[in-house]
Amino acid sequence: MTATNAPRIALVTGANQGLGRALVEGLAARMGSDDLVLLTGRDERRVTEAAREVEGLPATRARVRGHVLDVTDTDAVDRLADELRVRYGGVDVVISNAVARLLPDESQAERADEFIDVSNTATHAVLRAFGAVLRPGGRLLVVASSLGTLGHLDPRLHHLFDGASLDQVEYAVESWRSAVHHRTAEEAGWPRWLNVPSKVAQVAAVRAVAAERRTRDLATGTLIASVCPGMVDTATSRPWFSDYSHAQSPAEAARAVLDLVSAERVDPALYGELVRFGAALDWHSGKPPVEQDRILTP
Ligand SMILES: NC(=O)c1ccc[n+]([C@@H]2O[C@H](COP(=O)([O-])OP(=O)(O)OC[C@H]3O[C@@H](n4cnc5c(N)ncnc54)[C@H](OP(=O)(O)O)[C@@H]3O)[C@@H](O)[C@H]2O)c1
Repeated sequence: MTATNAPRIALVTGANQGLGRALVEGLAARMGSDDLVLLTGRDERRVTEAAREVEGLPATRARVRGHVLDVTDTDAVDRLADELRVRYGGVDVVISNAVARLLPDESQAERADEFIDVSNTATHAVLRAFGAVLRPGGRLLVVASSLGTLGHLDPRLHHLFDGASLDQVEYAVESWRSAVHHRTAEEAGWPRWLNVPSKVAQVAAVRAVAAERRTRDLATGTLIASVCPGMVDTATSRPWFSDYSHAQSPAEAARAVLDLVSAERVDPALYGELVRFGAALDWHSGKPPVEQDRILTP
C-alpha cells in the first residue's frame, strides 16, 4: 500500500468474528495511529463489542470503529462508499469477507437466497461502490477460496464465467439462483454445494472488474484481487470438518492477506487473480504457478 501523509481508511465486511475480525486486528496493528479501520457487520451489538475489543488490544495502533453494514442491503453499501468519499476523499483498503453460515444438515437449496445475497450480490455491490472510491495505491480484496476456480464447475457452465463482464457474472449468478428455485440446477450442471458456484462467481466478478481497470491501477500501485485464505478454524468451517489438525487460526490465515495489503508494490502477476499465500492460482486449473510448470514440463 502506498505510503501517504493523509490518514488511511480501511474497511472489512463481516468482521465481528472469524477471519474478518482477524483482518481488522491485523490492519489495526499494521496501520498508523491516524488511520481508521472500520469493523463492519450486520448486528449492532456484535459489531460494537468486537470493535471495542479490538480497540483495546495491546497491538492496536490505528483507530477502530464499528459500523453496522448488512451487506445484503446494497443501498447501504452504496451509501457507505459515498459517505467515505465525501468525508475522507475515498478509501484505501476494502476487504469483502462476509459469508452466510451453512450447516451440513441444512438444505442448501433453502438457504440459497441468503447465501447468494451475502456472497455474490453483495460482492458485486462492493466492487461497484468501493471500486469507484478506491484511492490510488489502494487495495480492494474479495475473500474467496480455492474452490473459486473454473475447473470446479461443470464444463457446460464455464462460458458463463470465463472472460465475463461484471454484468454477465451477475446474470450467471441470477441464472443459477433461478435454477435452484426451479429445481433444475443439478441437471444444468450446478454443484449442489452452494459454496462452489458462489466462490467461482466471486473470483469471476473480481476478474471482470480488474480487466477493465488493470492499466490504470497498475500505474498507480492499486490492487484488486480475490484471495484464498486456506482452511481456517472458524464457526462457519468447523461443522464441516472432523479433522482440524491442518486448520489455521484466523490470525494465521489473515497474515498472507495482510501482507498483500501492506506490500509496497503491486505484483502485476497477482493483479485481478485469485491469490493464495502470495501466489496466483490458475483460473482454469486452480494450480499455483510451480505445480502448473510441473504439469506443462513433465
Ligand atoms: N473458514 C474457512 O476455512 C474458509 C476457507 C476459505 C474461505 N473462507 C472465506 O473466508 C471468509 C470468512 O469466513 P469465516 O470462516 O471467517 O466465517 P465466519 O467466522 O462465520 O464469519 C462470517 C462473518 O460474516 C458475517 N455476515 C453474515 N451475513 C452477513 C451480512 N448479511 N452482512 C454482513 N456480515 C454478514 C457474520 O456476521 P454474524 O456474526 O452476524 O453472523 C460474520 O461476521 C468467507 O468469505 C469464507 O467463504 C473461509
